[in-house]
This record gives sequence, C-alpha cells and structure tokens, in this order.
Amino acid sequence: MTNDLKWLIASDFQIPYEDVRATKLFFSFMKWFKPDIVDLLGDIDDQNCYSRYSDGKPDEFLLANQKPENEETLLKLVAQESSDTKKFYSEIRKTAPKAQLFTALGNHDIRVFDYFEKKNPEILEKVTPNSLWGLDDLGYDYIYYNDLPRKRFGDIHVHHGVALSQNAGESARKDVENYGVSMMRGHSHRLGTYYKTHELRNETLRGYEIGHMCDVKNDQFKYTTVHNWQQGFAIAHIENGEYPHVQLIEISKDYTIFADGKKFTG
Ligand SMILES: [Fe+2]
Repeated sequence: MTNDLKWLIASDFQIPYEDVRATKLFFSFMKWFKPDIVDLLGDIDDQNCYSRYSDGKPDEFLLANQKPENEETLLKLVAQESSDTKKFYSEIRKTAPKAQLFTALGNHDIRVFDYFEKKNPEILEKVTPNSLWGLDDLGYDYIYYNDLPRKRFGDIHVHHGVALSQNAGESARKDVENYGVSMMRGHSHRLGTYYKTHELRNETLRGYEIGHMCDVKNDQFKYTTVHNWQQGFAIAHIENGEYPHVQLIEISKDYTIFADGKKFTG
C-alpha cells in the first residue's frame, strides 16, 4: 500500500480548436495512468465568439445568432456554444470516475462572463460554470481567472497563468516571482521549467508552464505567424500525498509520449 498519489495536469485545449489526435492521446494515457487527481489549468474553452477580437464581426455571438430577443432562446444558444467543452469535462469525469477534479479558468474561459456583463447583464446570473460546463454537477472544484493561484499539493500552486514571455520557461519564472511560491500554469502554450533555491530558507521554488493541446494549424491561430508553442501536459507523483514530483510530458510531432516508462502513440 502506498500513500503516493497520481496527478494529471493539462491546459489550453482551446475547444473547438483542440488538437483531436493529441486529445485522444491524452485520454488514452489518462485511462492507463488512473490519476487520483486531474487538474485543468485554463483555456479549455476558446470562446472566440465572446472575445473582444470578434466584437462587431460576423462571428460575434449575438451577431451570429441574430440577437435573439427571448431569454430562453438566448440561454439555449449559450448552452449550445459551450456544449463541446461540457462534453470534454464530462469525458474526464467518465475516464477518471473517482478522481478529484479541479479547473482553473483561463482568460478565454471567462470571456462569456465579460461579454454578457457588457451586452446582457440581466442574464448573467444564469450563465455560470455549472450552466455552461456542468462543473458543479460533475464535481469539479474551480477558481476564476482573476482569483489568486490555488495551493494544491505540497508547495505547488496552480493558476492559468498571468505572466506572458516569448521564451519557454520565462513565464513560469515570472509567475514564481510574482507570487513568491511554486507554480504550475498554462497560458503561454510553451513547455518550460524554472527553479530557484534559497539555501538559507531551505527551500526550492519551482515553476512549470505545461504546454498546450490545441491545433496550431487551425485558422483561428493565424493571429500570429510565430507559433513558438510546444504541445504537452504534466504529471506528478505526489509522494506521501505531500511532495509532488513533477514531470513535463512532451508530445512529439508523430504524437508519441513516454510517461512513467511507457510509450503511447496517438
Ligand atoms: Fe490563456
């Protein structure tokens, strides 16, 4: 019998622009890994239609749906818009039925709340993480993007991420410095680690940015031509339930990973 726990962490699927092959690989790994805990670190839902970038363009939510007058229709369309992401959240529940689940909403995930705050504040109380994605019903604990990072296991805090640097590892470093704690985060779409040891405090701060799971070739990502992005996710074995031994899992170009000594190909 061991008290070690298995933790699986991923972010930035940007549904419906997720990389389907990488996502399948992620789920087949999850099935084998049998995590005790699954954390999602933001930008699971892309929500382009609620973005300020689509404001006034044909793909803006209210324009695309011809401004439904009646509230019931409007709420139905909102639910439809988030249904793929809801499916994703419930697929995790199904794949890891006993796991503790946590999600740190990212800047993309909360676009819907900002949008209706501006356009239809009267429906705002009916648009919630549970109405959109079933988070409460599925047993997810969660934080919003503007919440502080959540302390999860041992020294590791999680958040979608605030700092954004062009260089892999640097966003992780900046957020470790911003918050003064060990951090695991998404947001940058890069894979990287950062360590800082203070010998006299007997402490090592650790920072991880855990890659992305989206389809870089999708037209949606043409807003930049520099995709210095790396696909991947993270796992950790939490020794005695206290100290997470973190590993970044790189997804190679042929959709292969090696995790816990085992090879998976998607
Ligand atoms: Fe983000």
